[in-house]
Amino acid sequence: MKWPRCDSGCVTFGFLAAEVYGRTMAYNYDDLYKTTPNALGDPTKTFVDFFSRRDLGQGLRVLDVGCGQGRDALFIAELGHRVVGVDLSPSGIADLTASAQKQNLAITGIVADITQFTPEGDFDILLIDRTLHMLDAGPRLKALGRLIDHVAPNGWVLIVDESSNIAGFKTVFDAHCEQWSTEVAKKGTLFLKRS
Ligand SMILES: C[S@@+](CC[C@H](N)C(=O)[O-])C[C@H]1O[C@@H](n2cnc3c(N)ncnc32)[C@H](O)[C@@H]1O
Repeated sequence: MKWPRCDSGCVTFGFLAAEVYGRTMAYNYDDLYKTTPNALGDPTKTFVDFFSRRDLGQGLRVLDVGCGQGRDALFIAELGHRVVGVDLSPSGIADLTASAQKQNLAITGIVADITQFTPEGDFDILLIDRTLHMLDAGPRLKALGRLIDHVAPNGWVLIVDESSNIAGFKTVFDAHCEQWSTEVAKKGTLFLKRS
C-alpha cells in the first residue's frame, strides 16, 4: 500500500479518525504499528545530518516526542545517547523497547498523550518528528510550550512538521522566558538552541 504523504514527508490520513486510549487521532498509528514492522522506514535524514555534522559527544539526554516505533530514537541511542521515547501508541512503544533491548540500547519508552504529558527532568535535545501536526492548533502549541520548559541550558529543540505550522511554533519560543537562537527555519524544519 502507498501511504499518503504530507509536505514534510509524514504519513497522513486527514480523512480518517480513530480512538487510541480515548484520544481521537487523525490516523490510527497504533493499528499501523501492530501490522507493520518499521512502518515509517529509515531515520529522518534531517536528524541524521544534525547528529553526524556536530561534535555532540556522547551520553546526551534526548526526548523523542511521538517516537512511534523509534526509527529516530534507535539511531540516536546507537550513537551513545540516552533516549526517552514517548508515544500515544502502545504498539509503537512496545516495538521501540523490544528493539532497544535486543540491541542493548539506553532507551526508555513511555506510553502517554503529549497533550497531558510532563517530562521528568531536563533534556539536552527535544526532538519532535512529524507529531505536532497530529494535534489541533491550541493543544499543539500548549504541548510545545510545556515540553520546551524541559530543555536544558545550551540544549536543542529539533522539529520536523508541516511547513504551515512552523510560524506558530516560533510564537511559542518568542513567548518563552528563555533565550532561543534559531539555527534552521526552512520548509517543515525548525531547529533552535537554548542559550
Ligand atoms: C507521523 S507519526 C511519526 C512517528 C515518529 N516520530 C517517526 O517519525 O517515525 C506521528 C506519531 O505521533 C503519535 N501521536 C499522535 N498523537 C499523539 C499524542 N497526542 N501523544 C503522543 N503521541 C501522539 C502517533 O502515535 C505517531 O506515532
